[in-house]
Amino acid sequence: MAIERTLSIIKPDATRRNLTGRINAALEAAGLCIIAQKRLQLTRGQAEAFYAVHRERGFFHDLVNFMISGPVVVQVLEGEGAVARNREVMGATDPAKAAEGTIRKLFAESIEANSVHGSDSAENAATEIGFFFAAIEIVG
Ligand code: RTP
Ligand code: MG
Repeated sequence: MAIERTLSIIKPDATRRNLTGRINAALEAAGLCIIAQKRLQLTRGQAEAFYAVHRERGFFHDLVNFMISGPVVVQVLEGEGAVARNREVMGATDPAKAAEGTIRKLFAESIEANSVHGSDSAENAATEIGFFFAAIEIVG
């Protein structure tokens, strides 16, 4: 498996509960290195643009409102097969279905307020990293 990069977001439900450090510890324990990180308050336009692929979905409006309800921490993770590895440590979208020990099982409040985002392919990871970070901000 090759060394990859993926985009991670610690969502507002988690920043509100002061869980940034505990989530970062879980990511690092899974072998992922945080090679860029910043805390942001997304605007509605930014959240709509980031989640544009979901704009036809019934949950889009609620998702955007949730993602702008407080600060997020955006980060670039690097490691062996980082895209899949991060999805594994995140757990299923719905915390009720997430495996024991995953971030969503441990911390998520609901299918929407599910604490973390992770890119779902290497191609989307490159696009999502470019959405938030300039090359000079990523120190691998
Ligand atoms: P993410 O993109 O945030 O990493 O999550 P994911 O791939 O596991 O899930 P996805 O299908 O891409 O959905 C994006 C986010 O939308 C919210 N959602 N709400 N109310 C609902 O039924 C519903 N379904 C999804 C979640 O915040 C989900 O992570
Ligand atoms: Mg997704």
